[in-house]
Amino acid sequence: MWLEGFLRTLLRRSLTKEKRIALENTVPLLEGRFEGTEELGLYLHIPFCRQICHYCPYNKEIYRPEVAARYVEAVKKEIDTYSDLAGNTPVTSFYIGGGTPTTMLQSGLEEILKHVFGVFNMQCDIHMESHPNDLSSENLNAIVSLGVEHLSMGVEAVQDRHLEALGRPYTVMQVTAAVERAVRTGFKCVNVDVMFALPGQTYEEIEETGHDLVGLGVDQISAYPLFTFPYTKLARTAKDESYGSSSVFKRRKMLGILEGVFYEAGLERTSVWAFTKPGVPKYCSVTVPLYVGLGASGGSYLKDLFYLNTFNVEEYINALEAGREPIALSLDLSERMQMAGWLYWRIYETRFRKSDFEKRFGKEFDQVYGRYMKPLSLLGFLEDDGDEVVLSDEGTYWLHVLEDLFSIEYVSKLWGTSQQEPWPESVVL
Ligand SMILES: C[S@@+](CC[C@H](N)C(=O)[O-])C[C@H]1O[C@@H](n2cnc3c(N)ncnc32)[C@H](O)[C@@H]1O
Ligand code: SF4
Repeated sequence: MWLEGFLRTLLRRSLTKEKRIALENTVPLLEGRFEGTEELGLYLHIPFCRQICHYCPYNKEIYRPEVAARYVEAVKKEIDTYSDLAGNTPVTSFYIGGGTPTTMLQSGLEEILKHVFGVFNMQCDIHMESHPNDLSSENLNAIVSLGVEHLSMGVEAVQDRHLEALGRPYTVMQVTAAVERAVRTGFKCVNVDVMFALPGQTYEEIEETGHDLVGLGVDQISAYPLFTFPYTKLARTAKDESYGSSSVFKRRKMLGILEGVFYEAGLERTSVWAFTKPGVPKYCSVTVPLYVGLGASGGSYLKDLFYLNTFNVEEYINALEAGREPIALSLDLSERMQMAGWLYWRIYETRFRKSDFEKRFGKEFDQVYGRYMKPLSLLGFLEDDGDEVVLSDEGTYWLHVLEDLFSIEYVSKLWGTSQQEPWPESVVL
């Protein structure tokens, strides 16, 4: 543990030059922040689920129609606060996540989307998460009518014993039928999420999982190792020490098996965890560097500023009903922090161009990060042709393990605190 802490501090200081990173409960002035912004991303959070999964780190609560109805009005008010700020800036990426967005299919999602399209200059497709149990033919038609063209759903496992252990409310047969219905509906991209390194999961089961998922005919498969976030029920109730905490080597081997199956089936790696059919636009969260996050726990990133809405749905609604901003925490980002954030996401995407870094920051990539490139290249972690840098499968995995040193700890602190306190004084990362 102390070694992880030491490494984390060393890396943070080396990459960001910051001794301490703290988000404070100040509401930043947003006027003028959008000037010169060429394009904007939009994220909308739907914090409702029909059941709560014990391993899930996201901000969510049980769906109640009366709360959802008030949530619709609150989100519309929040959208209005951006109408003058964002002006005519084109929105080139729109993602609806959760929670489970499909809980609100018949209770106001359409109204929120109409409002989004009325206020923002929308120039993009809609990507949305869903739950397999919400994917009846009728609901799939309703999703298409909303204008959603890229749909994702959590399959999570393809063995009944693992679905049961995870507490997922369906069988393999039922989830297979739901995915096949979604595939037949004709979206531009259908993505399924699966989790691996589950307690007691064997390498044979992983191989079977890979083949079964490919057999579903989906456009993209996102395979995540099961993480144990310290503030989830999974962490509190796990009696068996090994539950959800398999070694990084076991995870690597399992991911290696999945990579083998997916590559053989012709899929291409499009991020650390995602494998996509060639020629299909990849299903992913907001893709542009600057974005606004709407809803409870929505996070926004505006170049030199990051801010986060309150996670508490009731407090979020109350704030907007009272004409107050729902922003709970904010952080000014130094140039060095922005650069580190840029690099984090490029490693996640597994490839980048140094010229894009230079366009964004007006500095040569090699001058800032060049000294890290040579040893990584010698280790076989990446190929560097002078401009384009492409991570190998080994590099993708191990660099991401390194990133996780930060992200799991930071996400746990930020989301864990925010789920306990609606308006935290500050959160030190
Ligand atoms: C918002 S959920 C997906 C949509 C929908 N709520 C559902 O459950 O089907 C996002 C995805 O995150 C992944 N996920 C959730 N908790 C995780 C954990 N502890 N470790 C790894 N992946 C996790 C799951 O694959 C899940 O499908
Ligand atoms: S995994 Fe999906 S359904 Fe389960 S609690 Fe998380 S968001 Fe809700």
